Amino acid sequence: MASAFNTKPAHIIEFNQDPGVVDLDPYQVDLKDFDVSNVYLFQSDKLGPWFKRLRDEAPIHYCHEANLGPYWSVTRYEDIMKVDTSPELYSSEPSITMRDPEEDFTLPMFIAMDAPKHDDQRKVVNPAVGPAALKLFEPLIRERTQGVLDAIPVGEEFDWVDTVSIELTTRMLATLFDFPYEDRRKLTRWSDLATAIPGQGLIDSEQQRREELAECLAYFTELWNQRVNSDEPGNDFISMLAHGPATKNMDPLEYLGNLMLLIVGGNDTTRNTMTASVYALDQNPAEFAKLTADQSLIPSMVSETIRWQTPLAHMRRTAAVDTELGGQQIKKGDKVIMWYWSGNRDERFFDKPDDYIIDRDKVRGHLSFGFGIHRCMGNRLAELQLKILWEEIFKRFERIEVVGEPERTLSVFVRGFTKLPVIAHPRK
Ligand code: HEM
Repeated sequence: MASAFNTKPAHIIEFNQDPGVVDLDPYQVDLKDFDVSNVYLFQSDKLGPWFKRLRDEAPIHYCHEANLGPYWSVTRYEDIMKVDTSPELYSSEPSITMRDPEEDFTLPMFIAMDAPKHDDQRKVVNPAVGPAALKLFEPLIRERTQGVLDAIPVGEEFDWVDTVSIELTTRMLATLFDFPYEDRRKLTRWSDLATAIPGQGLIDSEQQRREELAECLAYFTELWNQRVNSDEPGNDFISMLAHGPATKNMDPLEYLGNLMLLIVGGNDTTRNTMTASVYALDQNPAEFAKLTADQSLIPSMVSETIRWQTPLAHMRRTAAVDTELGGQQIKKGDKVIMWYWSGNRDERFFDKPDDYIIDRDKVRGHLSFGFGIHRCMGNRLAELQLKILWEEIFKRFERIEVVGEPERTLSVFVRGFTKLPVIAHPRK
């Protein structure tokens, strides 16, 4: 096993990208030179006009040259829906991100598998976040949310990301895995390093990523061994994987792959939605006033935040056959990127898509959870966590005021925040 983790030298593909892109006017750039997979566009939150131009003028666009190889961009809502719901034409293998798996370090996971193996593995863990489990979790989520909010330094500046969003989602993850509670920040670390760019603060090299993932696997293997022989398997992810017919014989890298899916899937996304909700409501005082006046709008506000933020900006598919999409000929093997962020801003589907409107029409029609057989498995859990968070915020605080610029994640995949300075004003 160890040899799989310590072979390849570091390679840092994203470093070839030009930070100067943020100063360009996309309407002055030739469409054939468009490459929207530049991390700096995402970090600076300057995506709007780039994707609008693609939607209007080249909705199925081919980028010939990019760091991670050529790719098609699909940017309109209806076209994304077509791709996401046609797994026979657009495969999830070998990867759902723009980067191909490394030959000597492939982590199989069911999000990057097609039927029937995908369906069999998903079935094993799905009950952990199904309606019955959510009913059981609700009081626990509420209690933990109360604990975190009660510990906020009221009236003082603090970082919402670390103090609330990370803490709450990490506690939830620890519950889903029945993971030793005192070690729960390890889960945050493993989640962050899975999507980190080497050399940008979190990890120095690909080698370091592999070494830390090896530690993660060793830790989880111990938990598997403790649970695999239990006569009464628990309802946590690890017990389910250890006993599930489609997962109990996985090799270690497949176990690690599925762990990373469940850790990252449930962590980054919900965490960034929590932060986005505070940010968006601060930036849109009229919407906040609406919500304060009528708290039954909380679920709708949660959906709107998930649309507006789009915590995962895209998913990749790979053409399984030669096919046609919007008049373009797509060849078997081509990378096809469904830009959920852009579909969620498509004025052909949403009215005033750039605006944050908590009671908008079709509020649950957003693309942020995907559609089709890979539709987010944890979407109801994420919504529940967000709903409880805001119910508990309103019991304690007049408002959460943003007092500085947010810092954003350097990634084309995870749309998130690394910092959001705030002050919590207590209810009078
Ligand atoms: C899949 C987004 C929360 C677990 C996905 C997909 C997206 C997504 C875009 C892929 C959909 C597709 O390819 O069609 C989100 C967002 C969340 C969130 C925006 C929060 C706001 C969660 C939570 C969990 C979770 C809390 C719980 C563990 C998963 C899993 C998959 C998935 C396991 C793979 C499903 C499959 O391949 O069948 N999610 N997610 N997600 N998500 Fe989430």
